[in-house]
Amino acid sequence: MTELKNAVAALSAKGYLNMEIPKGINLVEEINRMRKEKNAIILAHYYQTGDIQDIADFLGDSLQLARAAEKTDADLIVFCGVHFMAETAKILNPTKKVVLPDLLAGCSLADSCSGEGLRELRKKHPNAIVVSYINCDSSVKAESDIIVTSSNARHIIDSLPKDQEIIFAPDKNLGRYINQVTGRDMILWDGACIVHEAFSLERIAQQMLEHPKAKLIAHPEAQKPVLQVAHFVGSTANLLDFVVEDDSKEFIVATEEGILHEMKKRAPSKVLIPALTNDDSCNCSECHFMKLNTMQKLYLCMKYEQPEILMDEEIRLKALKPINKMLELSKSIK
Ligand code: 13P
Ligand code: SF4
Repeated sequence: MTELKNAVAALSAKGYLNMEIPKGINLVEEINRMRKEKNAIILAHYYQTGDIQDIADFLGDSLQLARAAEKTDADLIVFCGVHFMAETAKILNPTKKVVLPDLLAGCSLADSCSGEGLRELRKKHPNAIVVSYINCDSSVKAESDIIVTSSNARHIIDSLPKDQEIIFAPDKNLGRYINQVTGRDMILWDGACIVHEAFSLERIAQQMLEHPKAKLIAHPEAQKPVLQVAHFVGSTANLLDFVVEDDSKEFIVATEEGILHEMKKRAPSKVLIPALTNDDSCNCSECHFMKLNTMQKLYLCMKYEQPEILMDEEIRLKALKPINKMLELSKSIK
C-alpha cells in the first residue's frame, strides 16, 4: 500500500491527478476513438459500473481476465478492475503497457497479506506448499507455488496429493469453504473481503422469508453461515451462468452488485434481489475499490496512458511461475 501511495503522490506531483476533461466532449466517442488510434483493449471486471462494462472489449471474472490479458496483441491494456488484476495482466504480458484508471483501486484481501508475512508463515511449515488466491499483490504471488481464482480453486486443490500440507492465503472464507468441499485441512491466512464479509445472515433470512421461491446464490468469499444456507456457491462467472441456466425465476444474490448488470442483460426475465448487508443505512454490496474507476478516469487514463503498472522484473518473473501453474492446471475450466 505504501508503494501505491508513493506512486499516486508521484502522479499528483506531475499534475496528472488535476487533469481536466474538456467541456462538452462525448466520453464514449472519445474512448472509442482512442481505442482505435492507440490499438488499445479495455478489459473490465463484472464489478465495474455498468457504463464501463458496456464499453469494454472484454468483460469477465478474474480468471477470464487473466487469460484475456495474456493473449491480447493490443499495444495498450486498459484494465478496469483493481490493482492486483492489472498487475497480473502486466506479469502475464510484460511488453504491453498496462494502465489502471485509478491507482488506488485496491482490495482488502490483497492489503491483508505481504510477501514477507507469507515467508514467515512458510518457515513454520517447511513441508507445506503455498497456494494463494489471485487477490494478492505481486510480492505474495512471488512467494507462492500456485495461484488460484474462485473459479478454479476447488479443481486445483483437488488435483494435489491428499497428504500434501497446504498454506492457503489470503482469504480465510474461501479457504474454509475449499477445506469443507475438498475434505482438506489447509492452514489459512487471516484475510477477508470487506464486501463479502458484510452480508448479514439475519437480514438474508428475512429476504428468504419474503421471497420463498427465490434461490440464494453466494460467492465463496462470503462467511460460512451465509454459504451454509446458500442454494448455490460459485465464483462471479459461475453465479452468472447459474442465473441464466437455472429454472428458478428469482435469485437473492450475495456478491458484489455490479454483476447484476450483466445478469439482467443475459437473463432479462429473472428477478434479481441483492442480498442485504450489516449496513442498514446503505443496503448495498458495492466494492468501493472497484467503484473508484469511472468513465472520466477511464478517458483520462487512455488519453495520458497513466497511471501505468510498472514492476520489478525479478518479482515479475517469480510471480509469473505460480500464475502459469494455475493456467496450466485449469485449462478445462471455462
Ligand atoms: P472473481 O474471481 O469471482 O472474479 O472474484 C474477484 C473478486 O474480487 C471477488 O471479490
Ligand atoms: Fe477485493 Fe472484495 Fe473488492 Fe473483490 S470485492 S476487489 S475481494 S475488496
